Amino acid sequence: MTKKSSNTVWHNATVTRARRENINQHKSVILWFTGLSGAGKSTLAHAIEEKLHQLNCRTYVLDGDNVRHGLCGDLGFSDQDRQENIRRIGELAKLMLEAGVISLTAFISPFEKERQLARKLVPHGDFLEIYCHCDLDICEQRDVKGLYKKARAGDIKHFTGVSSPYEVPKNPEIKINTGKDSLDSCVDQVISLLQSRGVISLPE
Ligand code: ADX
Repeated sequence: MTKKSSNTVWHNATVTRARRENINQHKSVILWFTGLSGAGKSTLAHAIEEKLHQLNCRTYVLDGDNVRHGLCGDLGFSDQDRQENIRRIGELAKLMLEAGVISLTAFISPFEKERQLARKLVPHGDFLEIYCHCDLDICEQRDVKGLYKKARAGDIKHFTGVSSPYEVPKNPEIKINTGKDSLDSCVDQVISLLQSRGVISLPE
């Protein structure tokens, strides 16, 4: 990104992240879901959000398909546009972290470099990468949106897993087998991670 905004001065808020976290009674964090289209990122993110909401946590899901209707509606699926997509979401999630929110981002985010850049925007430990592992053939069998079929027919170009790469995360905080494990089990694995990291504490 070329920075064009010179002559700007940072203003420090008196209502800080720590004060918000104190009111919320939980830490804020970024849960960064990554995986192929159809791997179950959005489904898992929304199921975890539901659970956290019932525990009175402040949450928000940023979903690839939804965000591409608005904030990132000007972006396509070339490598460059995907990089810009992830850059914007990284910055947005950073703001939400300051706002005291547990944000759950569900984007393919296929490139290790961009995921690393998003991670580096925030303090160590505030970015938890959740690799939703599901074999391509299972995603393709599911084909919930019918997009794999179109991609195989050549009607959609640069489709992840078919005609555009997906780089498997090198060091995710957690790998979830969304292709094999039940949704409940996947949710429990992430909730346990949040507990062990001190983000939330479950009632006795
Ligand atoms: S990302 O690569 O930039 O992270 P993002 O998660 O925002 O992608 O969007 C992926 C969603 O867009 C997919 O779940 C699918 O519904 C839709 N989509 C449309 N075209 C493509 C494509 N060429 N590759 C992957 N997903 C696509």
